[in-house]
Amino acid sequence: MPGQCVIGLQWGDEAKGKLVDLLTEGKDLVVRYQGGANAGHTVVIGDDVYKLHHIPSGIINAGVLNLITPGVVINPPTILKEINSLAERGIDVSTRMKISQRAHVVMPWHVLEDKMWNELVSGEDNIGTTLRGIGPCYADKIGRSFAIRMGDLIQPDFADRVRKIVAVKKKVLSATSGDQVVELDPDAIVAEYTEYAAQLASMIADTNRILLDAVDEDRNILFEGAQGSLLDIDHGTFPFVTSSNSSGVGISAGSGVPGNWIQEVIGVTKSYATRVGGGPFPTEQDNDHGQHIRDMGNEYGTTTGRPRRCGWFDAVAARYTARLGGVTSVALTMLDVLSELETIAVCVAYELNGERIDHFPAHVNELRNLVPIYETMPGWQTDVTGARSLDDLPANAVRYARKLESLIGRKIEYISVGPDRAQTIHIQKRESLEEYLKGKYV
Ligand code: GDP
Ligand code: IMO
Ligand code: MG
Repeated sequence: MPGQCVIGLQWGDEAKGKLVDLLTEGKDLVVRYQGGANAGHTVVIGDDVYKLHHIPSGIINAGVLNLITPGVVINPPTILKEINSLAERGIDVSTRMKISQRAHVVMPWHVLEDKMWNELVSGEDNIGTTLRGIGPCYADKIGRSFAIRMGDLIQPDFADRVRKIVAVKKKVLSATSGDQVVELDPDAIVAEYTEYAAQLASMIADTNRILLDAVDEDRNILFEGAQGSLLDIDHGTFPFVTSSNSSGVGISAGSGVPGNWIQEVIGVTKSYATRVGGGPFPTEQDNDHGQHIRDMGNEYGTTTGRPRRCGWFDAVAARYTARLGGVTSVALTMLDVLSELETIAVCVAYELNGERIDHFPAHVNELRNLVPIYETMPGWQTDVTGARSLDDLPANAVRYARKLESLIGRKIEYISVGPDRAQTIHIQKRESLEEYLKGKYV
């Protein structure tokens, strides 16, 4: 059984958590392979709402082993808080999860750096990070000399290493912080992180071994992407991206499974578009349309609570990320959010410097200058939150989904009409929206 993966096709918050929870049934392992506590994944099962930042969304299902692999950056106090809050709800994470020794640790100086670098860059150049220390931690990972991995926390030279790193960090941070005092006490940090390591000890493991054994044994493995493909460090809307490979290309590198073993990639996309933080957003509707979507979709960040920027579906961007990620099918989410609209616009191409283009440009200045070319679709103005099959959807809702499917170039396999696990339509592999529409409405 080849690996199944869930990735976001936009700028994050596409409802990956919901899909992962849904697909966890029948899986042996669920794997988070990149990002860190910048993610906020929501799982809703009846009245139970779980907001997960660090821990894979497979954690709610007993009998599934959850792995956090080398490509993730770990914030020990944050993950411990999450473990404890799940324990209060009867979920014993320690028996269901392993964290890679190779995963890098977000240290207190990384959070300070994130804040400082953000303050140094203002206006439209500001990335607007989640301030979780993600970028600085990944920067130290690539730089190597000042990095700390989970496995280092229990080594005899840990205290020594922290002292050496703090000495350098203090110099660098003091030079940029002006009169502000940089509070980094190496002894206190060593004591604190040694305690975290003791609490996490039973979960720290060599996940590469576990995963490669699972591949050899043909186990069912689900990979959970964080962020979205347009936030990918190499292939996204740079520099307004996160610091990991959050598109499909990151699965193999972040987890340690061979790339040719990944054969099923489900790309999750909202029925419209959102983005949190700075950066170009060609179809943004900074107007009543955008506010309507924000209100209907409750579009406020799961991690930071910031209002999400909202806009129309961008099919050029989604086609790009579906191709980039080797997407084999699509999960279209939040269809219910559009239910009150009379008409819905979809961006089918762009105009750049007076010319029509149908590809996603690479440079931020080009991205900023794009003028979307829209096609307008009629809405359905019917509540769809109770739909459980295509037959329950109004024809115009199916037509809208079919339009997006043909523009993205990948089959829609799931349609989500509400946050709950149950509010999902599964379109069987042999079914086709086109045939369905022909049979029923033409
Ligand atoms: P993730 O980061 O991709 O896991 O997504 P988030 O959890 O950050 O954001 C998705 C939000 O939408 C959460 O509050 C979900 O409970 C909610 N949600 C998921 N699917 C649907 C849907 O089909 N309709 C509506 N209205 N909300 C949904
Ligand atoms: P999930 O997994 C939405 C955004 C931040 C910022 C940029 C860089 O819930 O979809 P960072 O803190 O990573 O350096 O911030 O990336 N961002 C997200 N936006 N969903 C996420 O995760 C995000 N994780 C980071 O808002 O614009
Ligand atoms: Mg989220």
